[in-house]
Amino acid sequence: MRILTGIQPSGALHLGNYFGAMRPAIELQQEGEAFYFIANYHSMTSLTDAQLRRQYTLDVALDFLACGLNPAKCVFWVQSDVPEVAELAWLLSTVTPMGLLERCHSFKDKAAKLGEGEIGSVNHGLFAYPVLMAADILAFDSNVVPVGKDQKQHLEVTRDIAGKFNQQYGQTFVIPEPRIREEGAAVPGLDGQKMSKSYSNTIEIFGEEKATRKKIMGIVMDSRPPAEPKPDADKNLAVQLLKLVAPANVAADFEHRLRAGGLGYGDLKKALFEHYWQHFAAARTRRTELAANLDHVSQLLSTGAEQARAVATKVLDRAKRASGLK
Ligand code: ADP
Ligand code: TRP
Repeated sequence: MRILTGIQPSGALHLGNYFGAMRPAIELQQEGEAFYFIANYHSMTSLTDAQLRRQYTLDVALDFLACGLNPAKCVFWVQSDVPEVAELAWLLSTVTPMGLLERCHSFKDKAAKLGEGEIGSVNHGLFAYPVLMAADILAFDSNVVPVGKDQKQHLEVTRDIAGKFNQQYGQTFVIPEPRIREEGAAVPGLDGQKMSKSYSNTIEIFGEEKATRKKIMGIVMDSRPPAEPKPDADKNLAVQLLKLVAPANVAADFEHRLRAGGLGYGDLKKALFEHYWQHFAAARTRRTELAANLDHVSQLLSTGAEQARAVATKVLDRAKRASGLK
């Protein structure tokens, strides 16, 4: 079974990315042949700073490797190092109905944000994004694609496009199955909304110590005194985050003390910071080692790209033969 997924290099990765996407992807390495890539072509639809793209691409690579992605088990590469996907995207675009793309929520939402709905202000890449995503998936004969709920529709588009091509030119592509992560995995941010870079409410996985402590100690809570019992302790943001980063019995104990009364919010936040720091301690050490040896990291990525390219070249060749380009 081939498992494939992509992550955009669009900023420092945070606890939402980690618990929602990275940790499940790292665990899936055990279940099949994992193919993971950093979607830098995709990032061009929204990020236009070249230096930042370079920086974020490296950051994602370091973050993933430090958190347990194992290059011996998994093919890991940077999307643009396998340019065959861009060529395949063209072939796929010719069997993609405009209407299919016009219906995509993510395009409609982004278009609305960028230009108050004016289609003229939206770049074609943003519109064609699902076709490139289909190429990413189909170029590797992927069987399973783990993604968040927001990508569900893009997977449906991929399956549609693969089906159209197969119908037009004969059996060429494997039809992939989505594996959609449940809503339960939504990690709350510092303000209680879903943690997201766009809301500036994140706790970074590898944030600097002082700044992260300050962020966590700055979480705003209500003004009930410490002694007062808190029957809603399970809704407390720090308790929710503690459940992710602390051992289950420790988190349960803090929740219990908050519910019973007698635990101050300051102490609770302090515990949250300490468990957060401890949770990523080993990964932090690995990240420092990797960052000191960037040649090794770029070697890993180029080996990954070679392996990925070998697969994509074969699939593209199959598609070119089927469609009469060869
Ligand atoms: P952001 O919202 O910060 O821009 P992305 O949209 O780039 O994050 O998300 C990358 C991956 O991380 C997606 O698979 C998404 O499902 C997951 N993810 C992001 N934020 C959260 C969150 N708060 N809780 C759970 N998963 C999340
Ligand atoms: N669109 C995905 C996101 O924004 C990233 C992505 C690009 C992807 N290509 C992919 C995910 C292929 C899975 C498979 O999160």
